Amino acid sequence: MTEKFEETFWAEAIKLASPHFYVLVTSVDKNGRPNVMGLSWWMFTSVNPPLAAIAVGQARYSHQCLEGCKEFVLCFPSEAQKDGAWFCGTKSGRNYDKFKESGLKAVPATKVSPPLIEGAMLAFECKVVQELDVGDHTIYVGEIVAMHKTPGVERHLYTIAYSSLLSIDHEGNTDIGG
Ligand SMILES: Cc1cc2nc3c(=O)[nH]c(=O)nc-3n(C[C@H](O)[C@H](O)[C@H](O)COP(=O)(O)O)c2cc1C
Repeated sequence: MTEKFEETFWAEAIKLASPHFYVLVTSVDKNGRPNVMGLSWWMFTSVNPPLAAIAVGQARYSHQCLEGCKEFVLCFPSEAQKDGAWFCGTKSGRNYDKFKESGLKAVPATKVSPPLIEGAMLAFECKVVQELDVGDHTIYVGEIVAMHKTPGVERHLYTIAYSSLLSIDHEGNTDIGG
């Protein structure tokens, strides 16, 4: 039997395109108060120099913060941080002090003003080197100026429409994970 394409729609297509990473992006507002948002739309864009891009909705408070201070930290929350991570993706820093209310703890970064998140599996400190308005989001390209990991934390969060994952590495080896 030949499988035929059916038309789909945005919400379903985004779900079918998963898994997406789920990272936390920290920034600071004009008073130096840190904010943190949940973000799935990011990618590495260069090895040398090391660059990572994030797409931030123009309506987000984080967008306002990034327009003031062109620095951010990309953090990969651990599985244990799922509740706080979800809070940060569903509440705005306009109405909440998310570091007070999410249970996530800010710790100073080494080269940028926005903080790291204690216990995150991985964190990239970034300085914005390019930006591009695209529809209702702005792509900020950040040069990664420092990288950190938390030893012992092996898994981070992603959004998903599957119950298990087939992974493939650069040698073409595959492995079914849980
Ligand atoms: C799973 C998930 C993925 C998200 N991905 C993005 C994203 O890639 N870009 C974006 O602008 N907002 C994204 N959001 C929405 C923001 O995290 C959300 O609007 C948040 O409240 C913004 O906080 P802020 O107003 O403090 O910046 C995502 C939310 C969730 C739950």
